[in-house]
Amino acid sequence: MHRPTDGHATLARLSPSIWVGVAPRGDAGLNVTSFPAESTAVHWLTDGHATLPSALAESTDAAAPAPNAPFGRHLISIADLGAAGIAEVLGVAEAFAEVERRAIPKVPTLRGKVIATLFFEESTRTRLSFETAAKRLSADVISLAVATSAVKKGESLRDTVETVEAMGIDALVVRHSSSGAPTQVARWTKRARVVNAGDGWHEHPTQALVDCFTIRQVIAERTGDDPASLGVSCFEGLRILIVGDIAHSRVARSQVLAYSALGAEVTLAAPGSLLPPSLEGWPVAVAGDLDSALGRADVVSLLRLQAERGSGAYVPSLREYTAGWGLTARRLPLLADHAIVTHPGPMVRGVEIASDVADLPVTVATRQVANGVAVRMAVLFLLLGAEGAGGPRD
Ligand code: NCD
Repeated sequence: MHRPTDGHATLARLSPSIWVGVAPRGDAGLNVTSFPAESTAVHWLTDGHATLPSALAESTDAAAPAPNAPFGRHLISIADLGAAGIAEVLGVAEAFAEVERRAIPKVPTLRGKVIATLFFEESTRTRLSFETAAKRLSADVISLAVATSAVKKGESLRDTVETVEAMGIDALVVRHSSSGAPTQVARWTKRARVVNAGDGWHEHPTQALVDCFTIRQVIAERTGDDPASLGVSCFEGLRILIVGDIAHSRVARSQVLAYSALGAEVTLAAPGSLLPPSLEGWPVAVAGDLDSALGRADVVSLLRLQAERGSGAYVPSLREYTAGWGLTARRLPLLADHAIVTHPGPMVRGVEIASDVADLPVTVATRQVANGVAVRMAVLFLLLGAEGAGGPRD
């Protein structure tokens, strides 16, 4: 690791474009002109805390409302980030992916912070990866088990959130079956940051960030580049086909926003009954059938039928859905040689993807899960890493 020094400060290079400056507390405002020219982000760590990079800079002062409050202090939608913010998250995630490869994959960055996960809907990957990410950043993690909580006695979402925040929580990671629930939670919290871990049909921003990170990683491996050095240029003109239950999918909405913000060409492939009633304002094309669309795609992003949101009523039968829109073994030869197949999980083998296809290297679902930790470390770091972020405790 390259370590130029600047007076009392030490700069450590975490990746080609990410540097961490370690300075005694109070010295974080050092002369920035001596930073390495190639750095795109320098995160100051002072006694384990860090200042925020630009994308979420408005989060630094929780006491003062952000201009677009509650957005800016929270991550509710991919639209909160824009292309520059997505690029920044991917860059920081790359640095944390390096931390994860260490013998002891833990950094003290969020020591003293408390992160609560509030999942009102089932989850395996998202919840575990947020909790792992928080622990690797040395935050304390508490997890509300909704099924055994006072929610079951009729306590409202607002009272639940206010109760949790009263315990001095710095961030709430919220999953809810109602679209808009994390937006409401963000309005109710006084100092805690809110991260949307999936709300109804609305959005699942960290999943889309994981997907972007994974796609860039695979492209970089093939070209022999360092992923961070690619920035987000590899998405420019990339042809991405999103297949499946678009109507009920929060993942699809966040993917469309993220992929198109980065300059990708997005096409949707689904039966008409599983497309949203209106696509006005969506920067997408629609494919009439899957077979002809597959060959044009650099990336195929598969989605699960959201049975819990009633999608079963929109398809004649699972067999017919698979025959028309599933990535079956018969369709495999239609894929371009360089194609990448993503799936956010959980996969329903035999429905949207054939079991044999799911296990082929072309399908990067397991890699997406692995990358979920580094990407969520980046999100938590960007929201909470500022010295004083979260505001003073009462
Ligand atoms: C997705 C979700 O919950 O929205 N899964 C996930 O977070 N990995 C997709 C899905 O459940 O189909």
